[in-house]
Amino acid sequence: MIFGASGDLTARKLIPALYQLFAEKQLPDPIRIIGFARREKPDEAWRAELKIGMETFSRTKRVDPQIWQDFAANLFYCQGEFTDPKAYEKLGQQIASSGKEELSRNLLFYLSTSPSQFAEIVEHLAKAGLLRRAERGPAWQRVVVEKPFGHDLASAQQLNAELTRFLQEKQIYRIDHYLGKETVQNILMFRFSNAIFEQLWTRQSVDHVQITVSEKIGVGSRGGYYEEAGALRDMVQNHLLQVMALIAMEPPVSLEAESIRDEKVKMLKSIRLLHPSQVAANVVRGQYTEGEVDGQRRLAYRQEVKVKPGSNVETYVAARFFVDNWRWSGVPFYLRTGKNLPLSASEVRVQFRPTPNVLFAAQCGPKLDANAITLRLQPNEGITLRFNGKVPGTSLQIRPVRMHFSYDAEFGAYTPEAYERLLLEALSGDATLFIRRDEVETAWRIVDPIREGWSKEPLTEQEFYAAGTWGPVAADQLLAAQGHAWRNPQPIT
Ligand code: BG6
Repeated sequence: MIFGASGDLTARKLIPALYQLFAEKQLPDPIRIIGFARREKPDEAWRAELKIGMETFSRTKRVDPQIWQDFAANLFYCQGEFTDPKAYEKLGQQIASSGKEELSRNLLFYLSTSPSQFAEIVEHLAKAGLLRRAERGPAWQRVVVEKPFGHDLASAQQLNAELTRFLQEKQIYRIDHYLGKETVQNILMFRFSNAIFEQLWTRQSVDHVQITVSEKIGVGSRGGYYEEAGALRDMVQNHLLQVMALIAMEPPVSLEAESIRDEKVKMLKSIRLLHPSQVAANVVRGQYTEGEVDGQRRLAYRQEVKVKPGSNVETYVAARFFVDNWRWSGVPFYLRTGKNLPLSASEVRVQFRPTPNVLFAAQCGPKLDANAITLRLQPNEGITLRFNGKVPGTSLQIRPVRMHFSYDAEFGAYTPEAYERLLLEALSGDATLFIRRDEVETAWRIVDPIREGWSKEPLTEQEFYAAGTWGPVAADQLLAAQGHAWRNPQPIT
């Protein structure tokens, strides 16, 4: 059951993912997908709408007419107000009408609505008898909750309390779609199935780590949402901290969901919390002004639809975090994300310590690069190791060279969409790729003081950046203070 069936996410991500899984025969059989939303429309109209969405947004953009027809026969629409108890009765009747026992008892509710409606929907579902807290035999009911999960620690705690009135924690699947990305999942394989890298993954060898999630898009039509969120809540609290947790966590004791999540929480809890008074020295925010991206004019953030003309909301964040544990003590983790940057790319760069200043380092000076491993999460997914090599010839010249693993070259161009994996895991009851209650709360504990540190201060001149540039100058200064510099992701052709 998808709540918010007429929304963007349903058309762009959920239905294309379900279609793809259906085409690959990975969905349970039988299955029914019921869209629940306010507007009145017959099943056929919803199906037609979704087909157009599929042709526009799906990974392949091609829809096989026969597969679509078979798939669409499982799509149904239920009109109702989220606030109306009768609508849930109607939904219950529709669920029961399949006549198949497993379709009435094994239910996945996907809440893709405004977060303020999550608690109310769950309460209605429970009261209508569609959602049971205690498991009965093989029956299961689960709820997938889209982000944002709260807007600060207090609201996330409140939402958790409201949801757990009707659900056990193990029935709640909090989504962070970054965890569904192949390359993000591969971080654990890369670290813990290779003897050579993990040994280097410590303060003894690592100088610092850079995590960049840059986007060419601006806020577009999402100005209303973005004014409430800003880049810190939209990206850092969830996606960037999740990537950091996987990069920095200790090996889990097993591959069970709880073991992995225990280690991620432990790692997040080791991040040194900033006091609001320390924010200015450790976190830089920015907001884009007019500019050009790929030769296209871009409006300033303050000119975007539904954005206040004097808005201080950040569209860029760069932060320096320290992890106070045995492995990472003293190693800065630099995280940055922004809209309207020159390139869309997500990358983790592990920068190793330079060699001692003797031999080649003394001779070549700053030309001798420190080694680095870059995990390119998207696009052009891959992993690159940079080291120095002698330039062939009689003179002694050294320059950095690269060893590169590319997903496309190795595995072919097929990279499943994050939502395919996540929906499948939620259907099969594996919570590894979803965020646990203590995890989401810990992440808010990290970002709340940052927001507090900013709240009283309007943006200053040096916090603006022109669309199409790599962010405000202050972000460069943040790294320069420790002798570091951002390594911008490069376009890979
Ligand atoms: C979403 C944010 O969670 O992630 C968007 O709300 C952002 O603002 C998007 O654009 C980025 O996701 P991806 O998968 O395109 O990197």
